[in-house]
Amino acid sequence: MADTFDPSRSVEICPGISWVGVTDEKTPFKCNPYVLDDGEEAVLFEPGSTLYYAGVREKVLQSVAAKKIRYILLSHQDPDLCASVPFWEEAMGADQFQIVTHSRTAVLLRHYGIKSKVYHVDQNDWVLSLRGGRVLKFVFTPWCHCPGTFMTYDDKTRTLFSGDVFGALTYDWKLYSGDHYTEAMRGFHEDYMASTPHLKSAMIQLDPLRIDRIVPQHGSVIVRNVADHVRFLKGLRCGLTLMQPEIGPERGESPKISKGGYRDLIALVLEREMGVVGKEQAIETAKGILGLEVDERGNALAVKGDGKEILGRLLLKYHERFGSWAVLNCKMSLRAAAREYGLELPKIIGDKEGK
Ligand SMILES: [Fe+2]
Ligand SMILES: [Fe+2]
Repeated sequence: MADTFDPSRSVEICPGISWVGVTDEKTPFKCNPYVLDDGEEAVLFEPGSTLYYAGVREKVLQSVAAKKIRYILLSHQDPDLCASVPFWEEAMGADQFQIVTHSRTAVLLRHYGIKSKVYHVDQNDWVLSLRGGRVLKFVFTPWCHCPGTFMTYDDKTRTLFSGDVFGALTYDWKLYSGDHYTEAMRGFHEDYMASTPHLKSAMIQLDPLRIDRIVPQHGSVIVRNVADHVRFLKGLRCGLTLMQPEIGPERGESPKISKGGYRDLIALVLEREMGVVGKEQAIETAKGILGLEVDERGNALAVKGDGKEILGRLLLKYHERFGSWAVLNCKMSLRAAAREYGLELPKIIGDKEGK
């Protein structure tokens, strides 16, 4: 899948569905709005925050005429996907479109000043029929990561609009997911999803669907190995399951570590950073760390000296070069692994959950 595109243009990712996002190099927290053009009508998915309104609007209008937008779909109430809606209302009139969302989300949307009529997915048999006959189906995925969260499945193109689920935070952003995307997903889901049972329940609901592509609100479009990504999240240890394993009963899959020393913690960080900052940058940064020997593929060959100190130096270097996200995205896994091995973590990670 080609990943070179003109950043000033919208990108049609399959017939009738376009990515209309703005690329912001300054943050790994990239947001993806999409527009679905069904001929007579169009649906705008998660238009985004106030920060990117002008750029997103320009791209939407490259794909569809404004008067065709009859629905704005919001999978949950976070500002990164819906704070710009009042701007859309002002530009197009609040009667132009309906907001498609869950009742639990709708009660909060008015606090943004959103005035448009709401089409409640939970009060309409979890479907939306467009005038041309196309039916969008909604999959309820509560607490992934808000109480009213849902995903949208378009039968016609076999596309899943997944909201935050399947998202990732990465400096190495590409429109289409690459080899290290699952590690970038892991870091995001560990922190943002409620627990392994919640995420697993959402994934089980996807089993009957034939999905050709997943289009998440963060991260990259997934068209390769879609089923592998679903399987990965189905077993992922995340949220409270990772923070407080004693509350069980579902522990999920452990991060890929088994031996139990600082070298394994360093291996975990290296693997994660390949997803978060990109393979080359991750390896190049690690190669400059005193006491650490890393090969061309990012394997930690040797740790010579105090493992805790070397791990601390490595994390600090990622923090200095790429900012706090680089370390935040490793935090939950590192704490869980260190607890399992009885190891102390360097100060940069801290030892208190949630701090
Ligand atoms: Fe969110
Ligand atoms: Fe989000």
